[in-house]
Amino acid sequence: MPKTHEHWMKIALAEAAKGLGNTHPNPTVGAVIVRDGQVLGKGFTQPCGGDHAEIQVLKNVQGSVVGASLYVTLEPCSRQGRTPACTSAILASGLSLVVFASSDPNPAMAGGGKLLAEAGLKVVAGVCKAEADMLNRPFFYYIQTGLPWVIAKAAMSLDGKLATYTQHSQWISGEDSRQHAHQVRQLCDAIVVGAGTFVHDNPSLTVRNVNKQGKTPLRVMMAKRAPKPFADCKFLSSEAESRFYILEESEEAQSWRDLGLDVVLCDSLKACFKHLAEGGCLQVLLEGGGKLHAACFEERISNEILLYQAPILIGGKMAISYWHGLGVERIENALKVNHIQRQILGDDMMIRGDIVYPA
Ligand SMILES: NC(=O)c1ccc[n+]([C@@H]2O[C@H](COP(=O)([O-])OP(=O)(O)OC[C@H]3O[C@@H](n4cnc5c(N)ncnc54)[C@H](OP(=O)(O)O)[C@@H]3O)[C@@H](O)[C@H]2O)c1
Repeated sequence: MPKTHEHWMKIALAEAAKGLGNTHPNPTVGAVIVRDGQVLGKGFTQPCGGDHAEIQVLKNVQGSVVGASLYVTLEPCSRQGRTPACTSAILASGLSLVVFASSDPNPAMAGGGKLLAEAGLKVVAGVCKAEADMLNRPFFYYIQTGLPWVIAKAAMSLDGKLATYTQHSQWISGEDSRQHAHQVRQLCDAIVVGAGTFVHDNPSLTVRNVNKQGKTPLRVMMAKRAPKPFADCKFLSSEAESRFYILEESEEAQSWRDLGLDVVLCDSLKACFKHLAEGGCLQVLLEGGGKLHAACFEERISNEILLYQAPILIGGKMAISYWHGLGVERIENALKVNHIQRQILGDDMMIRGDIVYPA
């Protein structure tokens, strides 16, 4: 029986997944070329500035692709960006059918499907669109909003606390949860903490105990005013790049610059996240603490929750909680969480889902 478009597109989707976490600010794309029911080659988008999936797959095929079909998870780009337009390479190759999943939401690059159809190729759009859109959710979100996709992560007790009233927090979650969190870090472009966590925990925010590939996430601290420099600050190590975002200039900010840190002044919390996205950080892991989480919920910056809930109770009016801010006035104003995933990790429960802000 001839294989369906869905069959080949799933192979292209699996190719795309190989580039996850490494292509931003470009989208994550996979491609496969097929003729007479046989795969001639596969490819996926390389880190920024490298080949798009269409070019990779054409390079990976031995011999001619004349009359063959291309399955690609995103509409081929129609204009020169950092690399030449993929539609030109497709037209030059002699391919006769192009099937794509997601349409390109980037107005600067869209229209590739139409261009190919006008040039006489057969073009089919929208095959496995939902899966392909999901793969590039941060990229699509950035094109629509100018903001990065923000995952609000925390390890918490059953009563929603991130630390005790003495600010002791290590470790709330178990080994399995921490391992899972490192895998998520690896898929993110930046890891963000607030000044409280930065000063209290002196976190290294590196990816550990994971089969690392590609780039290391940028580590970021956000504060209204830069804290005082302190000895052995792990952000100053060479393991990863580091940046501060501040809302007010100060002598302390200059002292950090003198120590070699990149300190960026913005006029609002949202502007800090916009700056991150404009620099290619399209998926951001927000690791707390409770006050920065609160600000990011209240300003509708966070998009997804990622909780590791340990079977302990911490209690305490002064203990930091996940949303350590004003909160909502009435239950009908509560944020809802959609597409919930739950997974047992050792003794903990991982809960993940998409935030829906009230209208
Ligand atoms: N269990 C966990 O997963 C977890 C994770 C992280 C931290 N923790 C614990 O949480 C505690 C620290 O949490 P925290 O809530 O005190 O501190 P935090 O959220 O890390 O940092 C608070 C600071 O963030 C900055 N900030 C907050 N809202 C802002 C806004 N709208 N714009 C700009 N900057 C803003 C402010 O800096 P300024 O001071 O300049 O105003 C504020 O003081 C520690 O005990 C730590 O161990 C636990």
